[in-house]
Amino acid sequence: MICARGRVLSAGPDLLRVELPEWPGHRPGQFAMLLPDPDVRARDPLLPRPMAVFRGGADALEFRFKVVGRGTALLSELRAGEAVGVLGPLGNGFSVPEGPATLVGGGTGIASLYELAREAPAGTRVLLGGRSRRELLALEAFRALPVELEFATDDGSLGHAGLVTDLLKPEPGSWVLACGPTPMMRRAAEIAAAAGARCRVSLENTMACGFGICLGCAVSCDTGFRYVCTHGPVFDAARLDWDALP
Ligand SMILES: Cc1cc2nc3c(=O)[nH]c(=O)nc-3n(C[C@H](O)[C@H](O)[C@H](O)COP(=O)(O)OP(=O)(O)OC[C@H]3O[C@@H](n4cnc5c(N)ncnc54)[C@H](O)[C@@H]3O)c2cc1C
Ligand code: FES
Repeated sequence: MICARGRVLSAGPDLLRVELPEWPGHRPGQFAMLLPDPDVRARDPLLPRPMAVFRGGADALEFRFKVVGRGTALLSELRAGEAVGVLGPLGNGFSVPEGPATLVGGGTGIASLYELAREAPAGTRVLLGGRSRRELLALEAFRALPVELEFATDDGSLGHAGLVTDLLKPEPGSWVLACGPTPMMRRAAEIAAAAGARCRVSLENTMACGFGICLGCAVSCDTGFRYVCTHGPVFDAARLDWDALP
């Protein structure tokens, strides 16, 4: 794990590319805490924001995001050459499945799945969902991968008109790997369990520190509390207390 100042290569409404020579590499599904103002001139936001590493390495680390508040707005407004604080890689990330798998991404959770989709075995199904076509992050990057790609949108602007989990039909013994809103991941876990498939989900809870100090990201599991930032964000879906998740 490193805590360093990256140099912004480019930024925009849904993308940030950073040069960070010290970056030690990462696994699919790991994340970083990003601070848009590492010199803390503005002190707002004071805390960094968790963001999945979309793809890349030391020469260009790429993040894809949706602007939902001040932190993500400031990230989107960074200019080439400016500094951004990066703490990472953090969390456990996904293990790349060796057998048949279906990846299910919803909303901002789509960004956590790109490198997993790229490294997954041939024949892997990737299901991406959002409110509309415009909300499907990194559509073109996913389309360039050799995977079976299907879409679902609430408004019917791309693919199936309805929930992305409507498309999920896992084989017994296969893997379902999901990231997105809690109700979507919960439904994916239910479908997987009913089909005799194994399911792991990546949680996107609000975080303050990102490395196990503030205890603000605790979730309830069958063996007690676990921290999303250090024990996760990827968890075995069958072990989570879904009723207690935000
Ligand atoms: C491990 C991890 C990986 C993530 N990866 C990505 C990613 O790749 N791309 C991406 O766009 N987002 C990702 N997120 C979510 C992202 O961290 C939040 O959207 C961001 O922190 C919001 O910061 P803000 O200052 O813009 O908004 P805030 O001002 O903090 O909040 C604005 C609104 O968004 C809500 N909100 C804030 N954080 C979350 C959250 N985690 N879940 C649900 N609602 C939230 C708030 O309740 C509020 O209504 C990830 C989160 C985690 C924990
Ligand atoms: S975010 Fe601080 S302990 Fe997880």
